[in-house]
Amino acid sequence: MNKSITVLIAVLFIFAQYPLSGEMGDVTLIWSKNCQKCHGKDGRGNTKAGKMAKAKDFTDADYQDTLNEEDMHKNVKEGMIVDGKKKMKPYADKLTDEEITALICFIREFRKEG
Ligand code: HEC
Repeated sequence: MNKSITVLIAVLFIFAQYPLSGEMGDVTLIWSKNCQKCHGKDGRGNTKAGKMAKAKDFTDADYQDTLNEEDMHKNVKEGMIVDGKKKMKPYADKLTDEEITALICFIREFRKEG
């Protein structure tokens, strides 16, 4: 009896967590599949492809301050060309607006103070 109640509580607890962890898991997964190659798992852009493309450090507070949500969204959606060099391809046909918004929140989390 006691044991089955414990199991029931454990199961309820796991289901209660599920929507949140599912959502977070998705963003991390989208990031690791599409963005990590250049921007790195830690957002620093310290990868082979990131160095080649000259990805910037998302943990850098000064760099984060130069970014705004609107441009970030546009640049991820439509791609980014700087000085005639293609930095990022457009993700418009791969990711939804909601996914891009979630990725931008995710990128903001890399910011370190100071
Ligand atoms: C081929 C390498 C590459 C991949 C893959 C890549 N990026 Fe980037 N990204 C860059 C580079 C390089 C820059 C910096 C461009 C600059 O400012 O000179 C950048 C800049 C950005 C910026 C800043 C845009 C702004 O407004 O200045 C955001 C946001 C961003 N990337 C998000 C993403 C997301 C989200 C993904 C995955 C869906 C992704 N990137 C995939 C190379 C990449």
